Amino acid sequence: SSTSDAKPLSGCRVIVTSGPTHEPIDPVRYIANRSSGKQGHELAAAAARLGADVTLVSGPVSIAEPAGVRIVRVSTAEEMLAAVKHALPADIAIFAAAVADWRVATPNTSKIKKSTSDAPPALTLAENPDILKTIAQLRKGRPPLVVGFAAETNDVVAHAKKKLKSKGADWIVANDVSSPIGVMGGERNAVHLLTSAGVESWPEMSKTEVAIRIVTRAAAHLATLKRD
Ligand code: C5P
Repeated sequence: SSTSDAKPLSGCRVIVTSGPTHEPIDPVRYIANRSSGKQGHELAAAAARLGADVTLVSGPVSIAEPAGVRIVRVSTAEEMLAAVKHALPADIAIFAAAVADWRVATPNTSKIKKSTSDAPPALTLAENPDILKTIAQLRKGRPPLVVGFAAETNDVVAHAKKKLKSKGADWIVANDVSSPIGVMGGERNAVHLLTSAGVESWPEMSKTEVAIRIVTRAAAHLATLKRD
């Protein structure tokens, strides 16, 4: 085929994290959150359609697997970080997973029994690794474009601006998860894209369309990096 048939992300490696993580309390119980994985899976699918070699590192989700991507299924944040590191190198890394901030410090090896005489068990939590921050701050092998997400319920852009700096990401895609459109678990999203150039507030659209626009922008940005 001629070079004009080349897709914008042909020859590029993309890593996407998606979904929640499950942090075990004991063999049958866990801590989790309401992430469906829809936005992350759409990003992986969109990158694949643009010709990228995609590794989707997914927490436990109940949605369909996108076509044309390599899927690595994980359950905890620690497993997710290990899978992301293993998937490097990459040209673009997009962290759309809703990683649990804390895990149970020492999960019980057997099911915690309910007893009528004992007080309810107390869970001691430990901080999980920040996957986005870890990869964005790599001194060797940092992907040239690192994109994080910020789910906020108030002062969305202000919080996301802080996050752009503190995480070391190139872009932050911020969304208001308190919005009446029901972002978490829903089909639609309204996001703000924060880059070093400023903030763009996009209108509400489907998560599929958000994914297409982000990945198309990422491809264009990568092309400018390679040109310079
Ligand atoms: O700090 P906060 O959780 O709001 O940051 C959200 C961004 O950081 C998302 O891109 C999420 O995927 C990423 N993150 C991560 N590892 C964590 C926590 C958040 O990769 N432990």
